[in-house]
Amino acid sequence: MRPNRSSRRVSRRGLPPRAVATAVAALLVLAAIPVLISLQSGSSQAEEGHNSAAVNSQDSGSGTGNVGPVTDVDEDFLVKVRQAGLWEIPAGRLAQTNASSEAVKRAGLHLIDGHSKLDQLVREDAKILGVKIPNEATEEQQGWVKQLEQAHGEEFDRLFANLLRSSHGKIFATIGEVRAATQNDLIRRHSRQANQTVLDHLEVLEDTGLVEPETFEEVEEAVTPSE
Ligand SMILES: [Fe+2]
Repeated sequence: MRPNRSSRRVSRRGLPPRAVATAVAALLVLAAIPVLISLQSGSSQAEEGHNSAAVNSQDSGSGTGNVGPVTDVDEDFLVKVRQAGLWEIPAGRLAQTNASSEAVKRAGLHLIDGHSKLDQLVREDAKILGVKIPNEATEEQQGWVKQLEQAHGEEFDRLFANLLRSSHGKIFATIGEVRAATQNDLIRRHSRQANQTVLDHLEVLEDTGLVEPETFEEVEEAVTPSE
């Protein structure tokens, strides 16, 4: 479309002073928008930071902060949780290749999932509390993994269900002892998470229908205090 005369005239003469003032004002407003947005965002970040500090401070008083002494029993508990993950995750993976039972494979998936999350938590909590945790499972646990590596089919299913049900039964009792006596809030939170994970593993292992009476008897003997 061909521009009309009046618009050409305006461009030759320049904008009238009032139009220039309006344009400048508009530009100033546009320039101020990012600054305003930035200020607003900074203020909400500051508010957010304040809120999380408040949450942390509330946590300290409500059972999830790092308050209270850490005993040798508490430290040993973190070590055990770490070591559980170090052999149960490989065991869970072996179930996917060596098991014949679908229930055993399912239990293996629960072990991988549960201990991946718990391992993350135990590494964080150990760091906060200054507790040194190992990077290797115990020799006994490594021996169980070797046994599982060599077993296939129904033999694997039976071995997996019983070895893992036995170790879970024992650590379940340890969690109860730690939770009952610890004075540290972070250890309390950790024992709650570990308790949920171990309980889930006990259940999926029992769901295989392969746990033998001797395994329960062995656990009973191990967790019953000697007189
Ligand atoms: Fe487990």
